Amino acid sequence: MKKLTLLVLTSFLFLGVQAQKFEKLAMTPPMGWNSWNKYGCNVSEVLIMGMADAMVSSGMKDAGYEYVVIDDCWQVSRDENGEIVADKDRFPHGIKYLADYIHSKGLKFGIYSCAGTLTCAGRPAGRGHEYQDALSYSRWGVDYLKYDWCNTGTQDAKSSYSIMRDGLFAAKRPIVFSICEWGSNKPWEWAGSVGNLWRTTGDISDSWNSMISIFSQQKDLAKYAGPGHWNDPDMLEVGNGGMTTEEYKTHFSLWCMVAAPLLAGNDLQNMSPDTKTILTNKEIIALDQDVLGKQATCWRDNGNYQIWMKMLSNNEKAFCLLNSSDEKKSVLVDFALLAQARNDWDENEKPMSLNNYTVRDLWEHKDLTLKESSIYVDLLPHSVKVYRFNRK
Ligand code: GLA
Repeated sequence: MKKLTLLVLTSFLFLGVQAQKFEKLAMTPPMGWNSWNKYGCNVSEVLIMGMADAMVSSGMKDAGYEYVVIDDCWQVSRDENGEIVADKDRFPHGIKYLADYIHSKGLKFGIYSCAGTLTCAGRPAGRGHEYQDALSYSRWGVDYLKYDWCNTGTQDAKSSYSIMRDGLFAAKRPIVFSICEWGSNKPWEWAGSVGNLWRTTGDISDSWNSMISIFSQQKDLAKYAGPGHWNDPDMLEVGNGGMTTEEYKTHFSLWCMVAAPLLAGNDLQNMSPDTKTILTNKEIIALDQDVLGKQATCWRDNGNYQIWMKMLSNNEKAFCLLNSSDEKKSVLVDFALLAQARNDWDENEKPMSLNNYTVRDLWEHKDLTLKESSIYVDLLPHSVKVYRFNRK
């Protein structure tokens, strides 16, 4: 009996100090907005509050966007106690004031730091101050932390990120932990127990080539993603001007197929109707946010024509036909065959029969009326078609 009590006591003690991340956070990929892609270092209280307002008034909040994240350059120094200090000119009321404002809109607040000695923009970073910073973030009401990888010298990635995870856990406020080490140390292999999302590549830029090359690097990573731990192919460029509307539709569809975090990176206060239509397409977003949390796999690869498949809850699934070539393509699609498609390695997936499903085009917002199971589908250059198999 004594032995049992001792065992229970020691396991309690052990659990009490055991390193862990918060449970039940980011059960679907986080959605929000981040300042970096459009504004770089040009961040301020006025900008961030304006974006929070616009997130609500534009319908983005209704579509599921939640986190408003300030990226690099909000911080300028440390005070005599080592506390991180925000730029007083740009954030005159301090960070807590901003967090309170964002919370008052029914939104959540995110911030940025870095595991090295300085951030990528050369501002003071977290190295040696992890627990102290985590306490500040917790006090301010931070809900999301993006943690970068510049100026890390010979630091070990897993241990560096684990220190911050432990700091956040010790500070007791559930904070989504976004690991941003650009895929350099294969975070998909170790970060599931450390963070909630991890960048898989270098930075995206606002061009077709950058976007499609980043997407192609997600191909073998599906098995590492799931509720609470996601592959992050970087933030969205939709609406920033460097791609055509068709290309932005492709960008957004592909990110939703691979269950990517959806961090818009455009000016929410001045969105064109096209940009808004893309970013708030609820049927496409529903693929990303599906509770099963499966990342799409490439089911057929014909080079610049690919078919991606995403398993969904309720035995449903989605397909994305991707024409990444510069030419128009007309492809014969057999929906009966797609209904039967499954990943061989996943024994939970059952082949399905087309008879039990309706097929919906998620950009046209229309169910298909299929007279034959095969039809020709026209794909513009750099475009997609996204179909969802819904149970009848
Ligand atoms: C790195 C990150 C970017 C951004 C900048 C900020 O490049 O990958 O997403 O946060 O730093 O300096």
